[in-house]
Amino acid sequence: MEFYNNHKKLFTTALLFFVALTVWIAVWPAFSVQRGMKPLPNAPKMTAEEEAGRAVYIREGCVYCHTQQVRNLDMDDVFGARPSIAADYAGNGRVDFWRNTADLMGTERTGPDLTDIGKRQPSPEWHLTHLYNPRALVKESIMPAFHGLFVVKAEPGPNDVEVTVPAEFKKNKDDRIFATQDAKNLVAYLLSRKQAELPTGREPMEFLYKKKAPAGNAAGGNAAGGPDGAALFTTHCAACHQANGEGLPGAFPPLKGSPVVTGENLELYVGIIMKGYDARPGYAVMPPVGKDANLSPAEIAAIMNHERESWGNGAAPVKEEDVKKIIDNLK
Ligand code: HEC
Ligand code: HEC
Repeated sequence: MEFYNNHKKLFTTALLFFVALTVWIAVWPAFSVQRGMKPLPNAPKMTAEEEAGRAVYIREGCVYCHTQQVRNLDMDDVFGARPSIAADYAGNGRVDFWRNTADLMGTERTGPDLTDIGKRQPSPEWHLTHLYNPRALVKESIMPAFHGLFVVKAEPGPNDVEVTVPAEFKKNKDDRIFATQDAKNLVAYLLSRKQAELPTGREPMEFLYKKKAPAGNAAGGNAAGGPDGAALFTTHCAACHQANGEGLPGAFPPLKGSPVVTGENLELYVGIIMKGYDARPGYAVMPPVGKDANLSPAEIAAIMNHERESWGNGAAPVKEEDVKKIIDNLK
């Protein structure tokens, strides 16, 4: 056969087959996925500041310890309201001409998943202190301190953001510490990490392998059957007010001995939890934690009672129906 003896024909045919197959099984599917996959309609576009923050996130290697993917497994339920889907990543493009799309989904979860950190921890003051030294807020944290994102200055400029750092975490106890532009951008990026809502009518994927609540006592319940105030406090309040109720001087006030916590002005107390609080310049801003986490009146009453009876506060418990009345009035 002349075909097998003609090396030019043989080579050209093989080459054409190879190119056609490559286009068919590799190039075309990639383009078709890219064309078909659109970001969710409710997903906001990143601002220039948030984009710059993402570059800092990449540069500092945050992805070595943090994922940004909520898997459809029950254990991931704490990291977002729904499992992540392909559309959540459809807005990612090339970083620049030289670098491909940065994959920030991550594979290692040494620290918590950050897909929804903007909702879970919306306080910029918290993030700045935590980045300067995680141990200032989370005693047992193994996350590195990112001192390089901060500068020590004697006098602040007009746009400088001072960071609250307890004296034991500073080199010299009189140092005043300010965020660099990189730190501000990084925090803007972290605060933008929020799961976009699915379009109306689209049901989220289910979390698989749900653990059943133990019989009799509802999940996380206390002996009396109501919600567990101590556990709820740990989840929703301790990041700022700390497990010992002492807060962080200059950023988060103590609840130990707080007149609001021990007092009888429940309107103020419940209002702070549901609407947030920004009453004093000496402290950061408290976000509307109760509203953000959709806490029920029973859960709020349980948290309040935990705070009222802990750390030597010794105040009488509040009733769920009183808390409910106040919440209904707030609406
Ligand atoms: C060596 C691993 C490691 C690296 C690198 C690391 N982290 Fe962490 N991160 C952790 C651990 C562990 C925790 C949990 C303890 C804590 O809150 O400090 C954590 C907690 C966090 C939290 C709080 C999460 C929550 O749900 O409360 C944020 C936000 C965060 N890290 C951001 C970052 C950013 C931004 C970077 C990069 C500048 C980074 N981390 C680098 C290990 C790491
Ligand atoms: C992101 C940090 C943060 C979280 C989380 C947080 N708080 Fe606060 N909280 C603050 C800050 C900051 C203030 C002080 C605001 C001010 O005075 O300007 C405050 C003030 C308070 C006060 C008033 C204390 C006083 O003596 O004036 C109460 C009560 C309180 N918080 C309860 C709670 C409860 C209950 C939770 C959990 C459901 C909670 N906080 C979660 C940051 C936080």
